[in-house]
Amino acid sequence: MEKKVGPNSLFITFEGIDGCGKSTQLLKAARFFEDLGYEVVQTKEPGGTMIGKHLRSLLLEEGAKNQRSEVLMFMLDRSEHLRQVIVPALEAGKIVLCDRFIDSTLAYQLEYPFEILDSLNHFATGGLKPNLTFYFDIPLQTAINRRKNRTHTDQIESRSIEYMENVLARYLKVCMRDPERIKIIPSNHSIDQVTKLMEGHLRGSIESNF
Ligand code: TYD
Repeated sequence: MEKKVGPNSLFITFEGIDGCGKSTQLLKAARFFEDLGYEVVQTKEPGGTMIGKHLRSLLLEEGAKNQRSEVLMFMLDRSEHLRQVIVPALEAGKIVLCDRFIDSTLAYQLEYPFEILDSLNHFATGGLKPNLTFYFDIPLQTAINRRKNRTHTDQIESRSIEYMENVLARYLKVCMRDPERIKIIPSNHSIDQVTKLMEGHLRGSIESNF
């Protein structure tokens, strides 16, 4: 059962493989809530705090020295981010939109079983879960084609196609474990079509939450 922090707060996370369009849709969601008069905080993992920014460059530019350290660095980033940014915003009754959160760990740190990652996530977050999570579902080839247009790729983003196929498979399992919280958005469409699908859920979340 997720904990609620503030009376009118809402915590929404955006998930998917690199190139799925989640960052664009996060901006659209921010606009949607702001137009309705809500106060919105946009943030991301890794790198939503000062310590997180250092970790982000360590993780993404150099890579951690081993996989266990890598998981723990994501957890350190998450723990700080939660206490410095997410919880204060929720306590102030704001809407927090976060690019990647616990489900990224479950999908990307696929060397480890869900049980281990669940308890690490729980330790880092104290059990706080998003009210709503969007998973932007696209075929790997579409993501690869979109990413070809980017100039900069980092350590994590330049991983093999086989690894990314496994990440996709893990993401689908993650969605199936928590279908009430995680909404799958078919995203192999235009930006506007995807936004429409997402906004349907956003309206629902306002009705059920406020
Ligand atoms: P980023 O540049 O933010 O990519 P994107 O724009 O696709 O979100 O890089 C984040 C990378 O870090 C991404 O490849 C996923 C990875 N990651 C993990 O492996 N575990 C995690 O817990 C998180 C939050 C991210």
